[in-house]
Amino acid sequence: MIAARWFSLQSVHTVILYTSLSSGKPTQVCVLPGFHSWTPSFQPPDVGIRYVDHVVANVGWNQMKDWSNFYRDVFGMDQLVSFDDKDISTEFTALRSVVMTGGSGRVKCPINEPAEGRRKSQIEEYLDFYQGPGVQHVALATEDIIATVASMRDRGVEFLNIPDSYYDQLTQRVGVIAEDVDLLRRHRILVDRDDQGYMLQIFTRPLADRPTLFFEVIQRRGGTSFGKGNFKALFESIEAEQRLRGTL
Ligand SMILES: [Fe+2]
Repeated sequence: MIAARWFSLQSVHTVILYTSLSSGKPTQVCVLPGFHSWTPSFQPPDVGIRYVDHVVANVGWNQMKDWSNFYRDVFGMDQLVSFDDKDISTEFTALRSVVMTGGSGRVKCPINEPAEGRRKSQIEEYLDFYQGPGVQHVALATEDIIATVASMRDRGVEFLNIPDSYYDQLTQRVGVIAEDVDLLRRHRILVDRDDQGYMLQIFTRPLADRPTLFFEVIQRRGGTSFGKGNFKALFESIEAEQRLRGTL
């Protein structure tokens, strides 16, 4: 079953029910009209990405509530958690966020809107360059983030830099973790803990020459959060890039 709906003029929602109607079990089928299976001769090794963990949208001033209502009314989603501008702010900029989820909780869609700050926020910059609301980032889940990120770096993928000082306080902040902190430091991978466990994450630089869509790579070790404890370090890194672009 496929449902599609315009999200502004530039983004389309496509929801795919990944289940065989006859058996009720998950199945791999070519569901879009005109699609067929294809096995290319170029078969690079798998970097370990397993599924989409969440998809984040940026929307305009005071539009977050309208869009979360849309997700509730059209897709039957519920609000999982929300973050206000006190949770997500730096010295210069701020934003608010609400996370919508549906069904088993596998589909998670955070929605961000700008909040008042001293400078132009990353959400406003996105809206200017994208010319409207749309997808800010897609989070791809792996079971071994160090190996996945190392493979992606070898293939030329560029990730956001994080200040070295982030790693000096890491174990005091998140406690004991299974990963080697020196390897996390080398690859600039972030860690955050919640009451369920912890999670590791890293963000690519924007994919195109505009500061719009980027990817996140995420590994969950019990943690169900989106990295609230990393927001400040992450957004200061994004602001450093904004400063280079002259848009902060
Ligand atoms: Fe994310």
